[in-house]
Amino acid sequence: MTGININDLLSKRVLELEESPTFALENKVNAMDSELKKQGDFVVRFGIGQPDFNTPENIKEAAKKAIDENQTKYTAAAGIGELKQAIVKKFKRDNNLDYEPGNILAGIGAKQVLDTIIRAFVNPGEGVIVPRPYWVSYTQQVILSGGVPLEVNFRDDLKMDTGHLKSVIGSFNGRIKLIIINSPNNPTGVVYSRSELEEIGEICLENGIYIISDEVYEKFIYGDAVHYSMASFSRELKDITITVNAVSKTYAMTGWRIGYCAADGNIIKQMSKIQGQSPSNPCSIAQWAAVEAIDGDQGSVELMRREYEKRRDYIYGRIKDISGVECSLPGGAFYLFPEVSGLYGGAIRNSMDFSNQLLEKARVAVVPGIAFGDDDYIRISYAASMEKISAGMDRFQKFCLGL
Ligand SMILES: Cc1ncc(COP(=O)(O)O)c(C=O)c1O
Repeated sequence: MTGININDLLSKRVLELEESPTFALENKVNAMDSELKKQGDFVVRFGIGQPDFNTPENIKEAAKKAIDENQTKYTAAAGIGELKQAIVKKFKRDNNLDYEPGNILAGIGAKQVLDTIIRAFVNPGEGVIVPRPYWVSYTQQVILSGGVPLEVNFRDDLKMDTGHLKSVIGSFNGRIKLIIINSPNNPTGVVYSRSELEEIGEICLENGIYIISDEVYEKFIYGDAVHYSMASFSRELKDITITVNAVSKTYAMTGWRIGYCAADGNIIKQMSKIQGQSPSNPCSIAQWAAVEAIDGDQGSVELMRREYEKRRDYIYGRIKDISGVECSLPGGAFYLFPEVSGLYGGAIRNSMDFSNQLLEKARVAVVPGIAFGDDDYIRISYAASMEKISAGMDRFQKFCLGL
């Protein structure tokens, strides 16, 4: 042995990088669940944000066809022409946005697309605004690029405090390149109104900050909530917005790993260079499946949406009556973000303690709010069957009553 400490060799950035808390939780839950199964019990999984539905049949058939037709070679780094065309059509159909194929890049899930955008924009020490509570990977991807995540506080309704946004912009001693907006939101389920997005857009235009609009939950909105695309409001906003989406949530295709974005052609060109040098193209077969998902029959999306809405109504009806837990009705996505700090005390001092004890004592998995930047909350994913949700809420209620 050389006597060299490996941590002296590994980069500071990677050593400082946090493990994805949702994936870490999933590993722990899997191990616990297989032990419990032997005793006829199970963990109720309210943790990972993954649709419990199967990928629709027409999409699976398109993948089988692609294999049979030997669509199994490298493709263009930013995706096959057919997929870019399907995405162009989708942006017109769903978001009233006009793009050309040269404005589109397909990648390995929205996660890798987001990482590529951040890498394309950020030099070491530059700022990226990440409103709290944030999806777990935003801050870590900024750090991995050497950037500085700048957190913005939220109001009582869990939406961004734009007064604080302005003060963060005013006080950062360096260049701010990007802001990441996510509506419908993970972890809160909040859906921003048109005027709220326009206000944020105006602040970005005034300050030369480009906008990443992460719209992966756009199809899952409930009641009278409406999804708006930031880029659709004006020519000026379209120029500074990179709209990110994916087939992962919309078509229950998390494992297929296809995400995409639309932006100014030069941004796409620069991102394609990164893609060409790093992962190359997303899986050719999954790209053909995504063409069918995006351009084929959309009936399955509405069926899933209706089912999520039923679950949301049920779970919200249960949680709002639990004393010590505060929760607002989410307008979209498939998450609740209840405040549980009213139950802290004794052995439970924070969201991590709460989640750990809930898992150990009640066998219910949730994600601690600290993973999203706030320790007073937990995230509950209701992408689970009604039967599991009902059993999970019985356990959750009993656990809370016992505190
Ligand atoms: C807000 C948000 N953006 C992006 C992603 C990543 O999606 P994908 O599975 O397509 O990489 C997720 C997944 O949980 C998400 O919640």
